[in-house]
Amino acid sequence: MSKPRILVARAVFPQTLARLEQHFEVESNQADATWSQPELIARLQGKVGAFTTGTERIDATLLAACPDLKVCANMAVGFNNFDVPAMSARKVLATNTPDVLTETTADFGFALLMATARRICESEHYLRAGQWTKWSYDMFAGAEVHGSTLGILGMGRIGQGIAKRGAHGFGMNVIYHNRSRLTPELEAACKARYVGKEELLKTADHLVLVLPYTAASHHAIGAAEIALMKPTATLVNIARGGIVDDAALAQALKAGRIAAAGLDVFEGEPKVHPDLLTVPNVVLTPHIASATVTTRRAMADLAADNLIGFLVDGKPLTPLNPEVLG
Ligand code: GLV
Repeated sequence: MSKPRILVARAVFPQTLARLEQHFEVESNQADATWSQPELIARLQGKVGAFTTGTERIDATLLAACPDLKVCANMAVGFNNFDVPAMSARKVLATNTPDVLTETTADFGFALLMATARRICESEHYLRAGQWTKWSYDMFAGAEVHGSTLGILGMGRIGQGIAKRGAHGFGMNVIYHNRSRLTPELEAACKARYVGKEELLKTADHLVLVLPYTAASHHAIGAAEIALMKPTATLVNIARGGIVDDAALAQALKAGRIAAAGLDVFEGEPKVHPDLLTVPNVVLTPHIASATVTTRRAMADLAADNLIGFLVDGKPLTPLNPEVLG
């Protein structure tokens, strides 16, 4: 019997590819070419499955043009590249990779907070540029982290991981805002207090964004929200580009409206707003919050397991729209 045909849309670990090839006839993209949407559609012809990362858009137009497609497995926990209602309407299964990246991503969120508050990158650039000629009392004096107030917007698994690091490791006073409030048990485990969004913005010394990107969260942090923050505050975005209005943030950083920002995700990435590239008080990283070798392997394995689980055994591990399973 011939094997089901799948497309692996981006370069992946050779081990992942080898594993998929045991079960499927695979067309892959190990050269990691950037495919246009029409090219992606052309390559999906006759394929029943797609191994995607967060960068391939699976929308109604693509689905209409790819009638054989039955499953798209995202190697990412975020899935704003999927139009899940359109996928469900066409009975195409969507899967993502939750849990396996939670702690690693929370580690990175905290690292970015520390780098931002303590001006690590800015001072490193200064040193490398040969500008360090003498020590001075206020050189790169940043914001206190331990004992300060940590605000978290979006309190899912990763938000809770950051809260625990802040509360238990750094004695921070943790406040959060989320669509729904955590149970008293989870709040106690995170030592976190629920507050309204305005109080969060006004009170946090360090604000970390970990909410999913949706139409409702588009520009959740813009000029008006930044205006509510303390002038000494820092802002970290490890969620998705588009949640922050990057132009407004660059303006606020330039004007010293807040102290600093740390950004791992950007509106329209991999392009970065040019004004962010020229302000010194921002730490910029290229969407690497889950990037440890162990975690990226685990994400790739889970995405592959979802394809194998669904197409071979009929049991995907982490479906986003289980209603299509019938
Ligand atoms: C990364 O951004 C992910 O969603 O896994």
